[in-house]
Amino acid sequence: MSILSCRNLVKEYAVGSEQFTALDKVSIEIDKGEYLAVTGESGSGKTTLLNLLGLIDKPTSGEIIIKGKNVLADVKDPSSLRNTFFGYVFQNFYLEPNYTAFYNIEIPMIISGIPAKERKPRVDEALKIVGLINKADVKCGKLSGGEKQRICIARAIINEPTVVLADEPCGNLDSANTESIMNLFDELNKSGTTIILVTHSHEEALRANKMIKMKDGKIIEIESN
Ligand SMILES: Nc1ncnc2c1ncn2[C@@H]1O[C@H](COP(=O)(O)OP(=O)(O)OP(=O)(O)O)[C@@H](O)[C@H]1O
Ligand SMILES: [Mg+2]
Repeated sequence: MSILSCRNLVKEYAVGSEQFTALDKVSIEIDKGEYLAVTGESGSGKTTLLNLLGLIDKPTSGEIIIKGKNVLADVKDPSSLRNTFFGYVFQNFYLEPNYTAFYNIEIPMIISGIPAKERKPRVDEALKIVGLINKADVKCGKLSGGEKQRICIARAIINEPTVVLADEPCGNLDSANTESIMNLFDELNKSGTTIILVTHSHEEALRANKMIKMKDGKIIEIESN
């Protein structure tokens, strides 16, 4: 059974007096434990699709189904799903630069109301997973790009999400850092986390077990690796 799916998802933007269709009736089903890569040229609708699936943005029409529930129709407040069902990793990190790595990772748990005593060992564990326990007290603005992205991954997994959504997570990283981030995704997927990765890199896409290619807001190819 799929844990996350969409049906006939459409996203239109008003551009001047015209309507621009960024996503054109996209339907996909994502199974638990799947590792899906989304590829396609710039402007094809990859980020639009990811943001809709991750409930960051709302579609013009269509359905998003999470664990059998039609989210847009039946879930009044999707913020809890955002905070616990999904983990997000973006190309531009979106970390709080003036706060420590520790605090940035803690944020999703603070939102969930988890007591401080419980938060500390979990942040330490996440920092160990991403290999940055020695950077716990460093402000995120001072970290290197690769380190920032590893902190983002720690933050994304801290509430043990079912699905991690990653939008070109290695887009700003060199090859060594890309390798270490991609290895973290492999490990995460091996331990059962579903991953949806948007990438321009064919090499990165080959790590997934399924690839979809987008063009002009549509899925034009689905391939199993
Ligand atoms: N807020 C917006 N207003 C108008 N058009 C938008 C808006 N957001 C996205 N678009 C358009 O929708 C299309 C799809 O954008 P999207 O960001 O999903 O592409 P993408 O595949 O992620 O591209 P890239 O690889 O460059 O990140 C693009 O043509 C873009 O210009
Ligand atoms: Mg994009």
